[in-house]
Amino acid sequence: MKETFKKEVKQGLDENPKTLPSKYFYDKKGDALFVEIMNLPEYYLTRSELDIFQNQTQQLINTFGIKPDNYFELIELGAGDGLKTKELLKTLDAQNYNFDFFPIDISLNALTLLEKDLNKEIPNLSVKSQQGDYFKVLDSLKKKEKPKVILLLGSNIGNMTDEQAAEFIYNLGANLLPGDKLLIGVDLIKSEDIVLPAYNDSKGITAKFNMNLLTRINNELGGNFNLNNFKHLPEYNEKEGIAKSFIVSTTNQTVEIKAIGKSYHFNEGEKIHTEISRKYNDEIIEKIIANTDFNLENKIIDSKEYFADYILTIK
Ligand code: AVJ
Repeated sequence: MKETFKKEVKQGLDENPKTLPSKYFYDKKGDALFVEIMNLPEYYLTRSELDIFQNQTQQLINTFGIKPDNYFELIELGAGDGLKTKELLKTLDAQNYNFDFFPIDISLNALTLLEKDLNKEIPNLSVKSQQGDYFKVLDSLKKKEKPKVILLLGSNIGNMTDEQAAEFIYNLGANLLPGDKLLIGVDLIKSEDIVLPAYNDSKGITAKFNMNLLTRINNELGGNFNLNNFKHLPEYNEKEGIAKSFIVSTTNQTVEIKAIGKSYHFNEGEKIHTEISRKYNDEIIEKIIANTDFNLENKIIDSKEYFADYILTIK
């Protein structure tokens, strides 16, 4: 883990312009900051998707094409705290559907908490947590050849470029059988006055989340970033539909990273690109799935039309 972190930090900072990978936001502190972000008034994404799961639960179930008596596996990639999924699980349970729930997450801590919570709230539910890499886990489930519904919620796919997303979804398809479903939750392209504040909240939580990358480099790789000399900078281009986060150097400075054995110079105003948060529309989704084995089955949007759950079926 530390070796890959080191390698990827070096790679990113050697680039011009400099970059750092967003997946490293998520250590213990980053996880907690992301939970805070999800509760921010400006961060509408979680509430919008929760609206769908609360108020259009039956439409979701109908689109999955499942029958109460026919066993299926409900698999969630990156389950987190399960806030939205719980709405679906409660309804499936109340309607006596025959299924197991497989939450998959990299964080064992998150899975343990989720399982405890589900056991309490939906005692009937069969929960089979799987810690690890999505594809490793899917590969093990694939062997059972049971009908599957896969959930990928929260616009998590938005951190990928469209090319990466297409490859990811293609690979998911390779682990599935005809009729299997994939639900992808994505944030929709909308105006800057709504999107930008979601990445630039007034309490500065997103800024801390972004800057946590530098703290991690300091703590884990012996860096000496002075956080007072960098600041969080979000940008959004509505035409392109991509929000980007940067860390900007506020002065001319040099930073040493001991584990890499190298110093990096930053000019005043120089930006490190740390994240993309892609926003979508039908055209972009169609393009991403064009060369995969999936067809678009249905699209369910929230009451404010901010967010969409696209349901895809394997041909
Ligand atoms: C978890 C990738 C959906 O891009 O909106 C939140 C992460 N970054 N605030 C997003 C994030 C800054 C989030 N995703």
